[in-house]
Amino acid sequence: MKQGFMLVFDGSNGAGKTTVIKGVEKYLTLKGFDVLLTREPGGTPIGEKIREVILDPSTPEMCYMTELMLFGAGRAQHVQEKIIPALAQGKIVISDRFDAATFSFQHFARGIDLETIIKINDLALAGFTPDMNIILDLDPNEGLKRVISRGEGLDRLEDEKSDFLVKARNGYLKQAEQSPEKFEIIDAAQSKEAVLSDVINIIDSLLES
Ligand SMILES: Nc1ncnc2c1ncn2[C@@H]1O[C@H](COP(=O)(O)OP(=O)(O)OP(=O)(O)O)[C@@H](O)[C@H]1O
Ligand SMILES: [Mg+2]
Repeated sequence: MKQGFMLVFDGSNGAGKTTVIKGVEKYLTLKGFDVLLTREPGGTPIGEKIREVILDPSTPEMCYMTELMLFGAGRAQHVQEKIIPALAQGKIVISDRFDAATFSFQHFARGIDLETIIKINDLALAGFTPDMNIILDLDPNEGLKRVISRGEGLDRLEDEKSDFLVKARNGYLKQAEQSPEKFEIIDAAQSKEAVLSDVINIIDSLLES
């Protein structure tokens, strides 16, 4: 793994991203790496305000283009303010979701055309791209059960119909098929320990490369 590496954890709602990221942070920190955790939507003070707007369950009327551009706006800020400077300092940046989620949710699930998604994403990323996406793959109905059992209520995107969430899941699998060098798929139906162990195996091989 080169100095200044960006790893993204992504996948269905409730797949266990936040849980596994905590384990990965511990593992890498023990190995002596300087790790920066971040998330999307969010990651910066501006991004966190945008997150509140995006996920607010009291505004189901948000139109798809508004949603896409809000994600884009938050990402532009995230990349410029936080990610690029951290990578320049040699940190390992771990983001809880990033641009693959936009392709899955806004293109494959919402149906916004690919060209528009690419345009907004390119504006936000300005040439930047993360090094690896680790996708926690789980039946979204199982993910939803996990979210409900967490007991925090559902946000606007978690409250979407099952069909929408299945399309988003398949969107991650399609992206992984199209760009295997940028994606690793983990079976997130396994126990937390087994998921973390699979993820650490991937990270170990990235560290060796
Ligand atoms: N492999 C697992 N098996 C069973 N339960 C799990 C597993 N991983 C996480 N959980 C539990 O499922 C719930 C959701 O996990 P977590 O918050 O990590 O998912 P997430 O992908 O970050 O969700 P969100 O998409 O809402 O951010 C938590 O209560 C967590 O303890
Ligand atoms: Mg989470």
